[in-house]
Amino acid sequence: MVRLKTREHASLSSFIQGNFKQSLGKRIDSLNINNTFENTITKRRDQARRSILVQVYSLNSQDDLQSYCIQFGDVLSMHHYQKNKQHNYILVEFKDIVSVNKIISSASFMDGDFVAPVKSSVFWFRKGKFVCHKRNSEKKIFLSTENGCICPTEKEIANFLQNAKSISGQIIDLYEALKLNDLETRLRFHTAYHLEQYFSRLFQNTKVLPFGSSLNGFGRKRCDLDLVLLPDNIEENNAASRLVFHTKPMKLSERHETREFMEILASTMQHFIPGVCNVRKILEARVPIIKFLYEYTNIECDLSTTNMAAVYMCELLYLYGEIDWRVRPLVTAIRKWAKNQEITSDVPGPWITNFSLSLLVLFYLQQKNILPSLRVLKTYATSDDIRCTENGIDCTFLRNLEKLPPEYKYKSNQDNLESLLHGFFDYISTFDFHTKGICIREGVPIRKPSRSALHITNPLETTLNVCKNVNIYELNRITEKAHDAIYILETTDNSRNSNWGLAALLNMKNIDIMNMIKLNNKKEENTTNSLEEIHEISEVNEVDINQPKK
Ligand code: GTP
Ligand code: MG
Repeated sequence: MVRLKTREHASLSSFIQGNFKQSLGKRIDSLNINNTFENTITKRRDQARRSILVQVYSLNSQDDLQSYCIQFGDVLSMHHYQKNKQHNYILVEFKDIVSVNKIISSASFMDGDFVAPVKSSVFWFRKGKFVCHKRNSEKKIFLSTENGCICPTEKEIANFLQNAKSISGQIIDLYEALKLNDLETRLRFHTAYHLEQYFSRLFQNTKVLPFGSSLNGFGRKRCDLDLVLLPDNIEENNAASRLVFHTKPMKLSERHETREFMEILASTMQHFIPGVCNVRKILEARVPIIKFLYEYTNIECDLSTTNMAAVYMCELLYLYGEIDWRVRPLVTAIRKWAKNQEITSDVPGPWITNFSLSLLVLFYLQQKNILPSLRVLKTYATSDDIRCTENGIDCTFLRNLEKLPPEYKYKSNQDNLESLLHGFFDYISTFDFHTKGICIREGVPIRKPSRSALHITNPLETTLNVCKNVNIYELNRITEKAHDAIYILETTDNSRNSNWGLAALLNMKNIDIMNMIKLNNKKEENTTNSLEEIHEISEVNEVDINQPKK
């Protein structure tokens, strides 16, 4: 009868003693279900708790698995995905968390080798001695196969962009193809919950939340998963009790304690949490993180602790994406352009990050009167919006966008996406980065307060520059590439070229295509140009090609 085998390994509940939540002091907020962002988190976390992830032999196991699962309660949905075209998984969502608890209690451990026996909601579905026969009354649950974690290839992107009717249409198509779908979001919350199941055995009331682009609406398929370990709602102390737990002091606000704590977490994860592999510790950074690969989804993850500022930053970006429908498609197109032009990179270095680039786009949209400044969002904040991080950073801003005054909700600027994309390149290619800085908080350029090549003020901690790492060479590359982009947008013509508009922008690797266009135009303008002259143009551009690669 027991066909689910738990993939869990070991309990460490006695490994570390201490009361994790105690040390965090100050105000750490509980989730307020009236707010959209927090509401989304609450809904997705609940969905993750009601779901199990089951590795099956093949898609044909669905009926059998469904029949098995419904013995424990109503099943709401089943989602299938493949990892590396070999491993099949089905994410089963129950109606009730009680069913998940029952199914976890009923599952068994692997026979044979010693394994650390800790239970969670990730399983194998082994071949049954007793096949579960489908009851006549049993309705087959539609198996969603959304190609969960598969990202379109560059060729596929080029094909669908070619068929769009306008550049604005291309931007929307790109956004729809790249954005995270429902299954990917479910899996990201399930990953967080899987870790939470372990950590909560070590410490009372801990939760793991996804943040970053997985949640702010700027994420693309297969983007990294940023996770943060936080204390959950702090329970009221039971004042009536005369027995008080012995605990150890823990000051996570102090850097070396955080590092030591993360060292322990990293070892725990590496040795005991199934699915977690290739654990790397980056503990010297301003925000220490543990990097790892989660093998059930093949997604790279970054785990930090008590980093509430990053969660509020994520909420701010999410809100900006909600204010106007053009924000997310535009940010997606510009992030994709930057990736293809090697302006951004997955490897850290002296170049702009996706996060900072997104702030740059938001700032541009503030200049176009499409988005309000953070100061405006702060002005209209209510008492429900008061938030402060564990280190006292004020993250109060309006969360309920219904309360924005009409002039910010109903905008006079109705520019289409094509015009905004062109406008963005125009704006950054002429912006005086030498003397001015970008400030989302004020919504206007500021006098540059630092000597960094590029200054983008951290909206929540205004003394910090999120682009401190960017050097002048990388900044110049951004503005040069923006110039090239304008040229491409103004000269590609969809009637003669299959690689037009956004497709041309994404494909203009090392401006080869631009050279071709320039050369063609030049030929048309002046057919008397000599071959030497044409060669000269190519040579000048080779200088760019030979710059250090990321
Ligand atoms: P991708 O992972 O590239 O898709 O984008 P991302 O927005 O998730 O960026 P990243 O994974 O690098 O960082 C995750 C989150 O951490 C961001 O969304 C921000 O909220 C926060 N973050 C990243 N970089 C910085 C930074 O330089 N300063 C601050 N304060 N927060 C940052
Ligand atoms: Mg990220």
